[in-house]
Amino acid sequence: MTGVQVATNSGLFQEALHVLPGGNTRSTLFVPPSAPYAAVGDGAHVVDVDGHKVIDCNNNYTSLIHGHRFRPVLEKVHEIVEQGTSFGLPTESEIRLAEELSRRLPAAEQWRFVNSGTEAVMQAIRIARAHTGRDVIVRFAGSYHGTSDAVVDLTMPGIPRSVADSVVTLPVGDAEQFKAFVQERGREVAAVLIDLMPNRAGLKPADESFVALVREETKAHDALLIIDEVITFRSSFEGLQGVYGVEPDLTTLGKVIGGGFPVGAVGGKATVMGATNPALPGTIVWGGTFSANPVTMNAGLIALDYFQQEDIRELNAKGDALREGLLKAGVRCSGFGSLIRIFPDDMNTTWWGAYSEGLLFGTNGLIALSTAMDDATVEKILQCVINVSKF
Ligand SMILES: Cc1ncc(COP(=O)(O)O)c(C=O)c1O
Repeated sequence: MTGVQVATNSGLFQEALHVLPGGNTRSTLFVPPSAPYAAVGDGAHVVDVDGHKVIDCNNNYTSLIHGHRFRPVLEKVHEIVEQGTSFGLPTESEIRLAEELSRRLPAAEQWRFVNSGTEAVMQAIRIARAHTGRDVIVRFAGSYHGTSDAVVDLTMPGIPRSVADSVVTLPVGDAEQFKAFVQERGREVAAVLIDLMPNRAGLKPADESFVALVREETKAHDALLIIDEVITFRSSFEGLQGVYGVEPDLTTLGKVIGGGFPVGAVGGKATVMGATNPALPGTIVWGGTFSANPVTMNAGLIALDYFQQEDIRELNAKGDALREGLLKAGVRCSGFGSLIRIFPDDMNTTWWGAYSEGLLFGTNGLIALSTAMDDATVEKILQCVINVSKF
């Protein structure tokens, strides 16, 4: 790694090793020998504790759609925290965010808020099982849906055999295998869980005819279709489901809808979401001390206010231009709109090379653009990725 800077972190990592396993709370942030520590963010940039400034293409794993310290969100949050940060009562803000989400995703009439995408997927699975009275969840190999038992690598330590027995993992895009499976066991299936452009599986948009088949077969077998839009919701005003023209029974969201604060949401038809209605007997009990807190709800509303059709179109155009430039320069990449993934031969060397040249992206090569980036910034990203791809 000659010429490549590795963060010193002012000794923070050595201190972290005493109190955090491996020196970190999030496995996704682990980059050997140790990740740089952030000090401050501003718009499209982050400065680390060594004073090194980088363009932030990670945007906290795609959640900061407007970059850091977006003024309208900050101003609203300052106003809200003066009134109280959370209550043992509901607030108006959750109604307004739910209304906004239903405007964008008409298939989802009702919502429940949680504090992460992981929880949203957990709750969607619970709802599907309660609604159908069935146990089996079908998901697709390589897709990431957070870290709850049913959606991780089922051979991971700590996953009970009983959970693994109720989850079936199929190869994505294999119509024949999917058809054969539902023919045999379709009536056992509570839900099929799909991400239309799974980041971990290569950030390749799913095949349209495969998605249509999954919708058709789930309907035919009275199973639910859950579309996980935790990452992809930013792809269009109606999420990626709008681009595909597919109506799921349940949608899971997270990231951008919290305006930079912890969030998750599950939405669906009122008949399905009724499985969580506390006014009805025998329904799912699900609390969450900080779920739907007014800081997150208001921050999310403002973030979405500034993420209308035209803003999305502009941001996606920047992503398209970046992808085009990378492909022209021979850099392997995938994605849609403002999400791009690159595939260097040696990720660790490329990651540190980019970081030392002034660019931060996901440790798996994920690049998420923000509205804080102008054309000149996108051009810098392009040149930097091209440069480091030569390592
Ligand atoms: C598609 C998808 N689902 C669920 C999750 C989990 O969200 P969170 O990290 O907020 O728990 C993620 C996180 O990256 C995701 O990409």
